[in-house]
Amino acid sequence: MQTIRALQILLLTAIIIIIPGPVQASRAFPFYSHEGMVVSAEPHASAAGFEVLRAGGNAADAAAAVGFVLAATFPSAGNLGGGGFLVYRRPDGRVFTLNYREKAPAAASRDMFLGADGKADPELSRRSLLAVGVPGSPAGMLETWERFGSGKLSREQILARALSLAEKGFAPDFGLVEGLAHEREWLSSHPSTSAVFYPGGKTLEPGDTLRQPDLARTLREIAGRGRDGFYSGWVADSLAAFMAAGGGLITRGDLAAYRVQALEPVAVDYRGYRVYGMGPPSSGGMVLGQVLKLLEPFDLAAMGHNSAAYVHHLVEAERLAYADRNHYLGDPDYVEIPLASLLSGPYLDSRRRLIPEGRAGKSLETSHGRPGPDHTTHFCVIDRWGGLAAVTTTLNGGFGMGAVVPGAGFFLNNEMDDFAAAPGEPNMFGLVQGEANSVAGGKRMLSCMTPTVVTRVGGDGSEEPAFVIGAAGGSRIITTVLQVFLNLAHFGMNVREAVEAPRFHHQHLPDVVCLEPNALSADTRRLLEGMGYALERIDHLGTASAACVLTGLESGTWYAGWADGMGVGAGTGY
Ligand code: DON
Repeated sequence: MQTIRALQILLLTAIIIIIPGPVQASRAFPFYSHEGMVVSAEPHASAAGFEVLRAGGNAADAAAAVGFVLAATFPSAGNLGGGGFLVYRRPDGRVFTLNYREKAPAAASRDMFLGADGKADPELSRRSLLAVGVPGSPAGMLETWERFGSGKLSREQILARALSLAEKGFAPDFGLVEGLAHEREWLSSHPSTSAVFYPGGKTLEPGDTLRQPDLARTLREIAGRGRDGFYSGWVADSLAAFMAAGGGLITRGDLAAYRVQALEPVAVDYRGYRVYGMGPPSSGGMVLGQVLKLLEPFDLAAMGHNSAAYVHHLVEAERLAYADRNHYLGDPDYVEIPLASLLSGPYLDSRRRLIPEGRAGKSLETSHGRPGPDHTTHFCVIDRWGGLAAVTTTLNGGFGMGAVVPGAGFFLNNEMDDFAAAPGEPNMFGLVQGEANSVAGGKRMLSCMTPTVVTRVGGDGSEEPAFVIGAAGGSRIITTVLQVFLNLAHFGMNVREAVEAPRFHHQHLPDVVCLEPNALSADTRRLLEGMGYALERIDHLGTASAACVLTGLESGTWYAGWADGMGVGAGTGY
């Protein structure tokens, strides 16, 4: 670690001298590197990706290693017991995605979250064992390495760092210490969680060592036996037994049947960029694509960053796109999604005409939920061959449904709450969704995760890597990625400024514009209120991570990256 830090400082010093023009004008520098880069929410994870790149691995190898380490060092969101998505650009320019979203167990049914009063019961869909979808992350991370990796690193090498951190332990950072202290009452009510995270009833303090021997055994099993090490054998037995004992539905059959899907990315062209995102069962690629296409004719740069006109245009585009999302999108294996039509020029032209000039549009009025403690994590990897990996993974809420699988040491997700528990009623993120995303056995719940790879398209149609972007923040992920991208594309911000600039958000329902502190000046707020917008202050809308490829510098290709949130984001590179 010390060597890496020293290297970072050295690089930073070097860059301040080397990088010309706009970067020097900034007071906030991102991380820079020259041969490869990893940006994640946690330093051990970034360091593991860095080691893999240094050992000759490519972006996919590093992404898999980072994902496994986050399961140990960032347990509120990094995971084995959750799911995620990968968007991967191979150095030859082809872009692929992997869908390792959780699935509803076979025995799940449409009304399983309704209480006696016929209303959705959030306790059931968020904190009970019924909240848990069949995990996809172990299969997804292994598939990332197998399908796209360099072939130079063994499975054991990919898992080595995660295994040693779980086994030997590490000093939890401030974010984890805080998170565990904050959630103590709820989390320690699960004996299996308490044993690992509150040993002897004690809450961890900065400087303590967190050891996770059961998690280490599970990681060793995966290192030795691959996907079978998790989806059959003693780990699967432990998970299924825990479910059976506590009223959960996941069986060994559900685990054995779990498969990762390789899907085409959703791609849209926007003002000289090609933006590659995740298709359904994520709504990220579609909503981001729609919003960008709706905005494309407008000169956003001329409006000014976070001006009233800028907020108005983004919010109205978001309102339209989220309305489509909530109505049409779900698991494409279960519902017909008119994706091509939703992204077609004529359709979007007709939708754009609905943006009112100079005043707020209106969404239907409906009650909405408040986001609870939530967590997801995104990371970006760039290798020296031009491979780009964008990965977003989650347990849904922070620490998922709160229970660690006894003996196996990993948290279980509460992803079932991403379904419309009762179509028309808001979920944890206040999203009001429809039939297309109702619960069914084997179905994947709709996601907002938006891992995104962006290229710059030349006049001859050739593509150059430009940005890797993603975020955490539930329904706010998509609008976070949107704003980071627009900050980079139109407002001359470096990647750190682009990630840290305060954001705003609208999701059709509830019909309010959420604002981060200091996102808008008092007079901009007054202008927007005058146009009919309801504004609501919210502490943070999501945390973003991004990495950029800076080309055209005399010294060669350089990468810059930044991860915000929790104060522990870390970039490494060489
Ligand atoms: O897939 C989704 O859209 C949600 N489960 C993501 C949850 C999330 O981002 C919580 N984090 N901050």
